[in-house]
Amino acid sequence: MELQPLGPVLGVEVTGVDLSEPLDNERFAAIRQALNDHCLVLIRGQELTEGEHVAFAKRFGDLQVHVLKQFLTTPYPELYVLSNKAVDGKPIGNHKEGWNWHSDWSYYEVPCFGSVLYSREVPPEGADTLFASMYAAYDALDPETKAKIADLKAVHSYSGYYAKAFGDREPLSEEQKAKTPDVVHPVVRTHPETRRKSLFVGEDIVKEICGLPVAEGKALLDRLNAHAVSDDFVYRHKWRVGDVVIWDNRSTMHKATPYDDKAYTRVMHRATIKGTDRPA
Ligand SMILES: [Fe+2]
Repeated sequence: MELQPLGPVLGVEVTGVDLSEPLDNERFAAIRQALNDHCLVLIRGQELTEGEHVAFAKRFGDLQVHVLKQFLTTPYPELYVLSNKAVDGKPIGNHKEGWNWHSDWSYYEVPCFGSVLYSREVPPEGADTLFASMYAAYDALDPETKAKIADLKAVHSYSGYYAKAFGDREPLSEEQKAKTPDVVHPVVRTHPETRRKSLFVGEDIVKEICGLPVAEGKALLDRLNAHAVSDDFVYRHKWRVGDVVIWDNRSTMHKATPYDDKAYTRVMHRATIKGTDRPA
């Protein structure tokens, strides 16, 4: 097994691994350590069944099932499908999901730890995913801003994001809303394992900063979001079929990018690993 960094701020490619076969504890520990060291691990050329994908993701922890049940696979509700494809007129996955900067499930009291995304069909162009290091973003802030945001908290809202991203669709049901109430998280969080500080913001899902006048809070949030995704902190992933990308949502944000969805098909399966700590 070999490791090759993907860029200066985050990401590492691991080669010499076949995830369809049981992974011994030593090699899994090396991948787990690489995730802490690099925030994102890429393993290319994998041919996985849905069961093998789920089994690998479960090595990292318990998996979380998405509230949009219509986009889960059968018999593996742990896999959430991102796709523009329809079968018998029914979309098999959520389309235009995550086209904003975010960390997955930040709108839960205990957000998810990581995501394991596997590419089954990819367009020949477009549909890259951008990942940004929130360690690098925090480290690069000037001391005045660090002091200003040290104790600030912000509201993360799934229903707010959903209404903005999917305003043309049926609104969330009462049951879905009940499962995703707004939550408050610190703007600066400390990673529970590495103990490094990172910026915890995001577009659309982060609704407002608590305790500041609305306009001031919005201006600050806009400034932090713009800073957080500066090119210097970003790795752009160009997908190939068979890529497995594992990322740590506690130290990164990411964003999907558009593609020609009339000409091309994209099918991605995501397993999401439950977190164990409230951000602090
Ligand atoms: Fe996402």
